[in-house]
Amino acid sequence: MADCETVAILDFGGQYTQLIARRVRENRVYCEIFAPAVPAAELSRRNLKGLILSGGPASVYEPGAPRCDPAIFDLGAPVLGICYGMQLACEVLGGEVSAAPAREYGRVRLRIREPSGILAHLPAETSVWMSHGDVVTRVADDFVAMAETDTCPIAAVRHRQRPVFGVQFHPEVTHTPLGGQIMRSFLMDVCGCRGDWRMEDVAARAVAEIQARVAPDERVICGLSGGVDSSVTAAIVQRAIGDRLVCIFVDNGLLRHQERELVRATFQDHFGMQLRVADAGRRFLAALAGVTDPQQKRLAIGREFIEAFRAEARSVPNARFLAQGTIYPDVIESGHGPSGHAATIKAHHNVGGLPSELGFELIEPLRLLFKDEVRSLGETLGLPRDLVWRHPFPGPGLAVRIMGEVTEPRLELLRAADAILLEELTAAGWYDKVAQAFAVLVPVSSVGVMGDGRSYEGQNLVVVRLVETTDFMTADWVHVDYEVLGLVSRRIINEVKGVNRVAYDVSSKPPATIEWQ
Ligand code: XMP
Repeated sequence: MADCETVAILDFGGQYTQLIARRVRENRVYCEIFAPAVPAAELSRRNLKGLILSGGPASVYEPGAPRCDPAIFDLGAPVLGICYGMQLACEVLGGEVSAAPAREYGRVRLRIREPSGILAHLPAETSVWMSHGDVVTRVADDFVAMAETDTCPIAAVRHRQRPVFGVQFHPEVTHTPLGGQIMRSFLMDVCGCRGDWRMEDVAARAVAEIQARVAPDERVICGLSGGVDSSVTAAIVQRAIGDRLVCIFVDNGLLRHQERELVRATFQDHFGMQLRVADAGRRFLAALAGVTDPQQKRLAIGREFIEAFRAEARSVPNARFLAQGTIYPDVIESGHGPSGHAATIKAHHNVGGLPSELGFELIEPLRLLFKDEVRSLGETLGLPRDLVWRHPFPGPGLAVRIMGEVTEPRLELLRAADAILLEELTAAGWYDKVAQAFAVLVPVSSVGVMGDGRSYEGQNLVVVRLVETTDFMTADWVHVDYEVLGLVSRRIINEVKGVNRVAYDVSSKPPATIEWQ
């Protein structure tokens, strides 16, 4: 992406940094998140159109607070400081920052004295979201205060000569209703971005990069999971090197109903990819025998996955590369940096990543994309809609959706219940409205009526979980129709032998997690 118009976001540790990036990209402007002290010289090698300094929890006057290279203000690219970013910009350029008499948090009225630059196209008063404990108490003579609130006289600033702006509030959050306009004004009017970043170009660049790295006699292995990220990765690599891509799909026996058939039909039959299926269900089940602790399950599955993958990969000749569907949030969470190649494995997923000891060089065409961008890229590449919009499925699969020991009969039962749930949600139009939907098996008997008597024998509880979320870090349970729940419950109880009770999970994250284990 080195040659495309780029806005650099310097991350001072704010909780909204990823959101800033999302807002920039919504304007079809490419941006990347950098470590706060990234040298100006490094940024100057890019086609830099602007800089955004994020918020952060520190105080600029504290020893050890993160700082930027002061030379970034001399690059000529416009700068927008947000919260901590504004305080830092003001301080570096001669102003003063100190603790506010009281922390300001929440929605406040902003009065605009100078409706120009980033504040152009706004009414004289608007509502903005604040979250700060420090304030800019004095600006250098070169600065003008553009807006104020009741408690914050310097709530937005601009430099008189240079294209440097700052806002004390957070334009990137939805609680600032006109924040989108402020971001747009900065990107389009101040930075002069064209807003022409397109998925077609992202695909073309990724393809060219892979072609440049992989020699004509070399092969690339791609671990397919059936999920969106690995599917889009495989599609890009195939576009780059055709049948020198070899996909490996590990059937760990912990998959959903007909998953293996779906992967085969899509990738082998439809896309004509070379697909090797490691039929490893039996060894995974053996490794899970007697294991009830969730983390032990994950560890056992992780170990088996690596072994099964390694065994299959060994038989692929001339395979120097491994293509992996690492996406941008994984890279950011595992320690960002412009050259952050340290983040080679999906770090927050302890299953599904492969260790570097396997000895492959990594190809990660999605490492700078957010999930919805990956989906849009998938559509650009012609992947089927159902695949592109699939809900995420955890690497350890149904094993973490069975409370207690994982056994074949329990897997069969859960698979059947889950298939009914997904079928009915899809038919009722709910599947696409939620972020994740699945069934959980709780092998605890509750009383049921069998014939004329009460019975506790061999009956299980199935819990249905539907969540809505944008980032999977927080999630709400879904207020789904009772009609749909009723139908799902009736069908599961009637059609799945061994289930006499269905419950709906009405807990949000936090404190509950999305998965039950
Ligand atoms: P939790 O349960 O932590 O889930 O709220 C957040 C998201 O992560 C998925 N998840 C996993 N994915 N390996 C994975 O690949 C795992 O061990 C794992 N645990 C949770 C979960 O399905 C949800 O989308």
